[in-house]
Amino acid sequence: MRTIAIASRKGGAGKTTVAVHLAAAAEQAGFSAAIVDLDPQASSATWADLRASPRPEVRCCPPNRLSIALAEVGPCDLAVIDTAPHAEGGALAAARAADLVVIPCRPALFDFRSISATVDIAGLAGTPAAVLLNAVPPRGPAADEAEDALAAMGIDVLDTRLVQRQAFVHSLTAGLAACEYEPRSKAAAEIFALREEIARRLQTLQNPETSCRNA
Ligand SMILES: Nc1ncnc2c1ncn2[C@@H]1O[C@H](COP(=O)(O)OP(=O)(O)O)[C@@H](O)[C@H]1O
Ligand SMILES: [Mg+2]
Repeated sequence: MRTIAIASRKGGAGKTTVAVHLAAAAEQAGFSAAIVDLDPQASSATWADLRASPRPEVRCCPPNRLSIALAEVGPCDLAVIDTAPHAEGGALAAARAADLVVIPCRPALFDFRSISATVDIAGLAGTPAAVLLNAVPPRGPAADEAEDALAAMGIDVLDTRLVQRQAFVHSLTAGLAACEYEPRSKAAAEIFALREEIARRLQTLQNPETSCRNA
């Protein structure tokens, strides 16, 4: 089982959006996925309530029950941990349990100190971390400027970016992911690219139809 923690001190950065999309996209590629939701707001679990499908399984738990929840949802190919903002303890527990910490960041709300605090938590846990630029404006320099600033500070940034798209909002309110709601949309293509990029980093979970192109 591979485990990804989605963490950011900022509410609204896109943690839940990324968590449910990664889990749903892994399922779509034929892998088994689960989400452990550490946020008391339980947004991932609310999304699961809206779904017709029981997969991916979503389980809520407080951070001190994380290892038990991960054992209970396993064995699965991918476990995604959704975390709460302003919860350093939860982020540390998630980072310790994870193979990779993904830090969603909106260029419009770019806050280097907040990102470096999450990078530090991942470092404390000994887990690699990378920023995912999310809700990027379709045009303009904001995303490139944010990436340059992060790179200058030695912070790893994923190549994939998620653009600000209504499909990411509407799919979630329908209990779907954008790649299920509109599989041929640009939003879906971005999620598939994200899944493949993370799969390359974890050296697993690659879609057999596309992995040969990435080899
Ligand atoms: N790429 C995106 N495009 C459009 N809306 C987005 C995008 N990412 C997140 N959102 C919206 O922003 C809001 C906050 O996102 P959410 O994933 O709940 O953040 P967090 O879990 O970090 O608090 C939600 O309404 C979500 O639909
Ligand atoms: Mg959330």
